[in-house]
Amino acid sequence: MKNFLRGSNMQASENNTGYEEDNPASFRLKRNILLTGFMGSGKTSVGKILARLLKVNFFDSDELITGLVGMSVNDIFRCYGEDYFRSRETEVLEILGKKSPGSCVVSTGGGAVLRPGNLDALRKNGIIVYLDVSAEEAYRRVKEMNDRPLLQVENSLKKIEELLQKRKPFYLQADLCISSTGRTMQEIAEEIINAIRPLKF
Ligand code: S3P
Repeated sequence: MKNFLRGSNMQASENNTGYEEDNPASFRLKRNILLTGFMGSGKTSVGKILARLLKVNFFDSDELITGLVGMSVNDIFRCYGEDYFRSRETEVLEILGKKSPGSCVVSTGGGAVLRPGNLDALRKNGIIVYLDVSAEEAYRRVKEMNDRPLLQVENSLKKIEELLQKRKPFYLQADLCISSTGRTMQEIAEEIINAIRPLKF
């Protein structure tokens, strides 16, 4: 898939935007950056790098959910089921959507795009960036881990392909799409900054 940038209010500025070329740290964030994408797309790793480069806070929605409930994601799914997890996720995303513009980078869980309204909550103060990863690469990145309850099945590659196909239309509602396949997290973070900093918003 090709990278894209959506939205009439997000064209490149004709004015001097006040950043030093090739120095990501000199860029001052005007809205929050909300990372979406499938499990293994690199949202958390890229988010941490972005937040460090931009000198803003970093939040991970899964981490906030596990803190709120006092259980791991696996245990929440096992004890209360996916719907319960999704409801806590919506609560956390509403809180994150209210963070002041330009104050943070947020990594969301891979299923955060599924509930109607979640993306709207995030879009209020932020730009939604979709990290696009192929099913094969997502599989390679998560196959040794056992912290994704939805992938604890016999054929996890097939499951990834199915979920990714169903979710693609939701992911594609993002403002910006960046390919994550075959690239380092640092490269992805820098590409996001390069795509965002000329925007007038
Ligand atoms: C999920 C992705 C996970 C976590 C939960 C459900 C999903 O987050 O929220 O296991 O439905 O795709 P990551 O995308 O950070 O792995």
